[in-house]
Amino acid sequence: MFITLEGPEGSGKTSHIPYLVECLKERGYKVFATREPGGTSIGEQIREVLSNLKNTEMNPRTEILLFQAARAQIVEEVIKPRLENSEIVLCDRYADSTIAYQGYGHRVDLDQLRRVIKFATNGLVPDLTILLDLDVKVGLQRKKKADEWNRLDAYTVEFHQRVRAGYLELVQKEPERWRVVDASQNWDTVQADIRKALKTILPGCAQ
Ligand code: TYD
Repeated sequence: MFITLEGPEGSGKTSHIPYLVECLKERGYKVFATREPGGTSIGEQIREVLSNLKNTEMNPRTEILLFQAARAQIVEEVIKPRLENSEIVLCDRYADSTIAYQGYGHRVDLDQLRRVIKFATNGLVPDLTILLDLDVKVGLQRKKKADEWNRLDAYTVEFHQRVRAGYLELVQKEPERWRVVDASQNWDTVQADIRKALKTILPGCAQ
């Protein structure tokens, strides 16, 4: 089972994952968590290029291809083998981030993007995707406070608003794959809501 978490900046995805892993393991599931961009040695090196604040001249097409290069590697090296081994793979961001950020954010043609994504992923689509939805200004504020500012956060508020709206459009287009969780709630409630969403495909997951 391949499950991804998505969301705009500061939605808190990353902080929830270790607790979801713990919960699933307690219930007897074999589970592996990873993140994008990254999750492999090559992917982590690409991540450094993508997030480096010095790389202000990066062209959106370069950005797109670097994300896909990292993705192709993690799909083949990590995700596919684990899925073949009947594990649950929980990934912090995946291809929907490219559609939301590069497609809606940078306004790159969505059909063209889907073609590059298909090439990078070899057609691997998540079984379930959870969107942690949050007001953009609240999310960016959270990230600034946490001192986790990176090159992509530095795009304009309008860019991030397009990203959030893009995610919500993706949910509309493919409602059976997506679950939306309101990430403005307190942390425990968000965690409980994510577990409820997981329960729809993994029985016994909610507390
Ligand atoms: P990260 O620090 O992991 O942010 P977050 O904790 O919000 O996930 O940085 C990843 C950044 O890369 C984030 O700003 C989203 C962006 N991104 C894309 O623009 N396209 C993509 O395909 C992926 C995977 C991430």
